Amino acid sequence: MAERSVQLRIKRQPSPDVEARWEDFEIAWKPGMNVISAMMDIAADPITKDGKASTPIAYDSNCLEEVCGSCAMLINGKAKMACSALVDRLEQPITVAPLSKFPIVRDLQVDRGVLFENLKRVKAWVPVDGTYDLGSGPRQVPQQQEEEYPLSRCISCTICMEVCPQFNEETGFIGAAAISQVALFNDHPTGKVLKEERLHALMGDGGIHECGFAQNCVESCPKDIPLTRSISRVAGDVMIQALKDFFTR
Ligand code: SF4
Ligand code: FES
Repeated sequence: MAERSVQLRIKRQPSPDVEARWEDFEIAWKPGMNVISAMMDIAADPITKDGKASTPIAYDSNCLEEVCGSCAMLINGKAKMACSALVDRLEQPITVAPLSKFPIVRDLQVDRGVLFENLKRVKAWVPVDGTYDLGSGPRQVPQQQEEEYPLSRCISCTICMEVCPQFNEETGFIGAAAISQVALFNDHPTGKVLKEERLHALMGDGGIHECGFAQNCVESCPKDIPLTRSISRVAGDVMIQALKDFFTR
């Protein structure tokens, strides 16, 4: 082993129906290493710390620059993006486990499909159907663009859902990411055409009323999205919409 090494404890689970176990690895340290690059080194020579032959670790990743949102996992017990989790800033042995609130697929891979279903539920898009030239979109004042830009930085990593005490099977809470996208698209000059539908989607089971304002989401979001501000704004709009619905029944 090289002069300086990195110790990792990684949770392994070949399939959802098999019990998980921990495996320890020791690899040579390299400058600028992150958790993904450490696991790439393990894949190149998958031998455990006690010399047993193992297999490459299964995990999701793609961009390796905190943009695609696929590499969220529990690193030393905290939900983080593995591609930006620098080894030198982590206590060793570095424990790496899958997110705990999503169905396990294999090792560190989980099925985060619920977020994408929730985004569909709130119609988190600007409706621009058709293949014809729609011309230039409506203009937005720079101040409004500046307010909305941070919300557009969401990478669908699901960390805000993982850390939220209300995101569980009992509540079916839709989660901060989908609510924040409602704030983004309801303010968009074209997107706001679906505003009422989005607000109605947040009124039912698992809707915005399930938020307990724990604020874990805003503290953990890797993109520093002002999630609690989005939730407050949207909660106000949902309330106004509910009153409108009541008086126009
Ligand atoms: S809001 Fe933040 S934590 Fe939640 S999915 Fe988007 S980027 Fe991830
Ligand atoms: S690999 Fe894309 S965010 Fe980490």
